[in-house]
Amino acid sequence: MLKNSIILNNGAKMPLIGLGTWQVNEPLELRNAMNAAFESGYRHFDTAFLYKNENIVGKVIEEWIRKGLVKREELFITTKLPLAGVHPDRVEMFLNKSLHNLGLEYVDLYLVHFPVCVKYHETIDFPLNEAGELQAEPTDHIAVWKKMEEMVELGKTRSIGISNFNKNQIARILEKATIKPANLQIEAHLYLQNTELIEFCKKHGISVVAYSPLGSPAINIFHEKQGYPTKNLPKIMEDENVISIAKKHSKSPAQIMLRFLVQNGVAAIPKSVTPSRIKENIDIFNFELDKSDIALLKTLDKGEAGRVCDMNGFKLSNHPDFPFK
Ligand SMILES: NC(=O)c1ccc[n+]([C@@H]2O[C@H](COP(=O)([O-])OP(=O)(O)OC[C@H]3O[C@@H](n4cnc5c(N)ncnc54)[C@H](OP(=O)(O)O)[C@@H]3O)[C@@H](O)[C@H]2O)c1
Repeated sequence: MLKNSIILNNGAKMPLIGLGTWQVNEPLELRNAMNAAFESGYRHFDTAFLYKNENIVGKVIEEWIRKGLVKREELFITTKLPLAGVHPDRVEMFLNKSLHNLGLEYVDLYLVHFPVCVKYHETIDFPLNEAGELQAEPTDHIAVWKKMEEMVELGKTRSIGISNFNKNQIARILEKATIKPANLQIEAHLYLQNTELIEFCKKHGISVVAYSPLGSPAINIFHEKQGYPTKNLPKIMEDENVISIAKKHSKSPAQIMLRFLVQNGVAAIPKSVTPSRIKENIDIFNFELDKSDIALLKTLDKGEAGRVCDMNGFKLSNHPDFPFK
């Protein structure tokens, strides 16, 4: 039977299912979601400086610890360095801000959120120039990584990793790293299986967390808020092949999507604020997809055409690292 956690390259244990919290900013909604998650057995929570909810995540954690219901060392808390922090002078400042928001002495995993640096403004996360493009700033990703390593040495994070980095960018970090990335967080689901990148990470001992593992069906709410064009989204959970495999195992399409990832050793952080779905999304360790299921599900991959969460809205064409080589 598949275990519900994996061991990272530094010996730390990461639960294979975590709760995603992007776009959950309403305190009561996030509190209820986290309470439901804790009650359903989640011990892995994913947030980011940019999500503007670290303080709520931290409060709920504090309550569970204070009531003696969980111990800090049982939890796996991930947060992320925002775009303005992807500069060697600003890594520690941003991690300190996140630790302050979360009310924690350390996080379990600190990720460089994007391979992109923007100008630092105290109150603006995505500063734009007159052309409406992000105010990009050249950066040195190796020097940023060295600062990330320092954060481990200072005890402010147990593990470090990257998100939205491609193979070449990861290879450049690996070449100079003293502490190898413990994790890569990328979009991965049945329509964007990211097989090559995942295999590359496995070969280098880097664990992978799949974000938008259900295809982020509500992402247009974010696009509308940001003034980005909305997208015609693929309805993966309505795919007839996924539905037929779900029926075969008496599971839901979401559970098939999540099981497909974790059975391949890839962790997933589905977001939900609905208690029944939160429970359902972690109830995937009591069945197994067989060879024929896996073979069929592999055929659903659409590669880049299946990507839901791209960076086009960022209007990065003026960025020194663009297109990301
Ligand atoms: N590193 C990055 O750049 C990055 C980018 C994107 C996301 N992330 C992380 O990954 C997490 C998950 O990705 P995501 O939020 O984009 O999308 P997702 O988890 O693929 O999808 C979330 C959506 O699916 C719905 N849902 C959840 N469980 C369901 C179920 N069992 N059946 C049917 N619908 C279900 C949720 O609705 P309800 O909430 O209404 O139940 C919500 O609308 C984020 O929250 C964030 O923590 C990271």
